[in-house]
Amino acid sequence: MTKKYLPADQERDFNVLKRQILKDKNFDCNQYRDNYVKRRLAIRLRANNVDSCKDYAILLKRDPTEYDKLIEALTITVSEFFRDTSVFAYFRKTVIPALIQDKRRKNQKIIRIWSAGCASGEETYSIAILMSDFLGANLGNFLIFVHGTDIDDESLEKAKRGEYTFEEVKNVRKNFLSRYFIFDREKYSVRDKIKGMVKFKKHDLVSGKPLAHFDVIFCRNVSIYFSMDMHEKLYMDFYNALNDDGFFVMGKTEMLYGNARGLFIPVNVREGIYQKKVVK
Ligand SMILES: C[S@@+](CC[C@H](N)C(=O)[O-])C[C@H]1O[C@@H](n2cnc3c(N)ncnc32)[C@H](O)[C@@H]1O
Repeated sequence: MTKKYLPADQERDFNVLKRQILKDKNFDCNQYRDNYVKRRLAIRLRANNVDSCKDYAILLKRDPTEYDKLIEALTITVSEFFRDTSVFAYFRKTVIPALIQDKRRKNQKIIRIWSAGCASGEETYSIAILMSDFLGANLGNFLIFVHGTDIDDESLEKAKRGEYTFEEVKNVRKNFLSRYFIFDREKYSVRDKIKGMVKFKKHDLVSGKPLAHFDVIFCRNVSIYFSMDMHEKLYMDFYNALNDDGFFVMGKTEMLYGNARGLFIPVNVREGIYQKKVVK
């Protein structure tokens, strides 16, 4: 199952299985690289002691709860607060001041940020914390909305709760922990002031309706699992979703592909930060 190409009959069964998953669950495996899907499928096949896509397709029909486990296996949801600290440091030092200056110049109060593929909310809250930290007493002069979206229900539930273990907040600076979290019953809960800035919603980056009017989009460590065709669609969608001069923050191992490459100006390539090029 982990091989890139399977014998023709197994390759056909693999494609039949993908179509069945799309039909039954409206979940499009073609958004991901085939090799990645095969690796994740192999985990579920092993877990069920099944050794072919054909038998696994029958199992899915017989036991629909297996679908949940499969989709969970396909959508890896690990995240961290301030994941890749240098990215967030650069964002705090350079991007936020530029954004605020631009908003003041245009006399605009609303700031909309999208954390696409937000998993359990760590990225979304990290952004809200930095906005609050930068603006300090001036926070009330702006209306800040940080939208966290993901396809995974369980992650979104956790994100909405905003409760994390000691291990999960290990990247959060001590002064941020005391300022933006409440420690109670062995859990760190995000304070209401930060929670009030964020909103979590289910949204599929592949089939969901396009979102728009964002000043900043974070989409980090999501596209790595996507096929090349999907990469291009994703980045074009983000381009269209950004306001003029808006910023796009991608994962450190991700890259812009195809037409999207000409549409973003590199701000800091090492940190994966780009700005929308305004094409007149
Ligand atoms: C590895 S996590 C990255 C989380 C966070 N952005 C970070 O960098 O820490 C990838 C997330 O992308 C989500 N995801 C995968 N496919 C998606 C899709 N088609 N639409 C929306 N979210 C998706 C997964 O559910 C998962 O939570």
